[in-house]
Amino acid sequence: MRLTVIGIGYLGLTHAVCMADLGHEVLAMDVDQQKIVTAGRAEAPFFEPGLEPLLRKNLDSGRLRFTTSCTDVAEFGDVHFLCVGTPEAADGAADLRYVHAAVDALAPHLRDRCLVVGKSTVPVGTARRLLARIRSAAPAADAADLAWNPEFLREGLAVQDSVSPDRLVFGVRSEWAATLLRQVYARPLAAGVPGLVMDLETAELVKVSANAFLATKISFINAMAEVCETVGADVVRLTEALSHDERIGRRFLSAGLGFGGGCLPKDIRAFRATAMSLGVKSVASLLGEVDAINSGRRARVIEMAREAVDGSLAGRRVAVLGVAFKPGSDDVRDSPSLDVCGRLAQNGAIVSVHDPVAMPNAAKVRPDLRYARSVPEAAEGAHLVLHLTEWADYRAIDPVMLAGVVARPTIIDARCALDAGLWRAAGWTVRAPGRP
Ligand code: UGA
Repeated sequence: MRLTVIGIGYLGLTHAVCMADLGHEVLAMDVDQQKIVTAGRAEAPFFEPGLEPLLRKNLDSGRLRFTTSCTDVAEFGDVHFLCVGTPEAADGAADLRYVHAAVDALAPHLRDRCLVVGKSTVPVGTARRLLARIRSAAPAADAADLAWNPEFLREGLAVQDSVSPDRLVFGVRSEWAATLLRQVYARPLAAGVPGLVMDLETAELVKVSANAFLATKISFINAMAEVCETVGADVVRLTEALSHDERIGRRFLSAGLGFGGGCLPKDIRAFRATAMSLGVKSVASLLGEVDAINSGRRARVIEMAREAVDGSLAGRRVAVLGVAFKPGSDDVRDSPSLDVCGRLAQNGAIVSVHDPVAMPNAAKVRPDLRYARSVPEAAEGAHLVLHLTEWADYRAIDPVMLAGVVARPTIIDARCALDAGLWRAAGWTVRAPGRP
């Protein structure tokens, strides 16, 4: 099939590459000429394991091409995927300006029968309003249909999540649209991925409620960490015991510094704004609390850091391990770690940061911090070490070696991911939120 992808950010580039790899002819478009040039050179502008080889393979095969022209896009295919960003507006709601701009640029060129498929995360009701917008501008208005096919990919696992997702959600208005989407995804469907057909509004809601549920799970266990701290219990052992109940499970129940990134925080705030405008107070207050518990984790780590250096961070050397919003990514958007670094610096600490891949991105946002090429370099003379992003590399650190480098062997394992016994045996004072 001939497909187009509009917007080649994280979602769009991954989607374009994976669609081409499924055997489709794909034309991907972005208004940013630089992004098009970079992608055309087979370079991904972000760290995503496995994406670049697949990008190169599909460029070489000729199945994937890039353009900046909306006319080319309209002429090329009959299925157009909308993959532009929906950032957070000042009031927490979703800012739909890029979605509107993409639709307004495309619609006047839609002459033949075609399906516009939204993949971006949007407030419920957006799809139906977009269809009206498309039809008011398209020369063959009734020929254009719209579907919603939300994306559930995780950074760091984007290729795997795109090629073999847990489920495919098709929000449609017609059997024609459902059939077309089944053809697009024929391979994963044949491999057993469930394809769920529903109305537009439900499909839009699947995405926001999935992220809201995941965020709620994390905030729940972090709230339990607060209880554990108060009574001297251990949130890690608690989670282990809870997870044996299949109804609860183990995933997304890691307590610590809480969630960040370009999706969960902004999506729960946007959903909260939607719930408020719909008058659904229960969802609005639940998500407000989920957000507040999450921000509270960052403040708690600062409090623990202050206690660990005898009350004042001013002039203290603090080594920070990990600055990406999660391991396996170089993304620092709403990174809990980078937020903590900023608060440490504000309190007068001298912060030295290490991360296996995210330092160039972090340095763009916080050029005032020191960036070290290795863990020992970051920890040199430190009064305190903070473990803020749980890269596997950090679990492999030799605590005896690191004890020989720091000024004071004290570590806060804010992700509850290190072997505290091993570190204590090497002479370290170890603190972790929710752990004795
Ligand atoms: C999230 C969802 O997991 C994807 O399904 C969704 O498609 C994506 O948002 C999106 O909306 O585009 P992502 O932002 O890549 O994916 O990251 P996650 O793996 O969900 O992690 C989010 C944050 O939660 C990270 O900061 C992570 O450290 C934190 N987290 C995760 C915890 O604090 N505890 C956990 O148990 C799990």
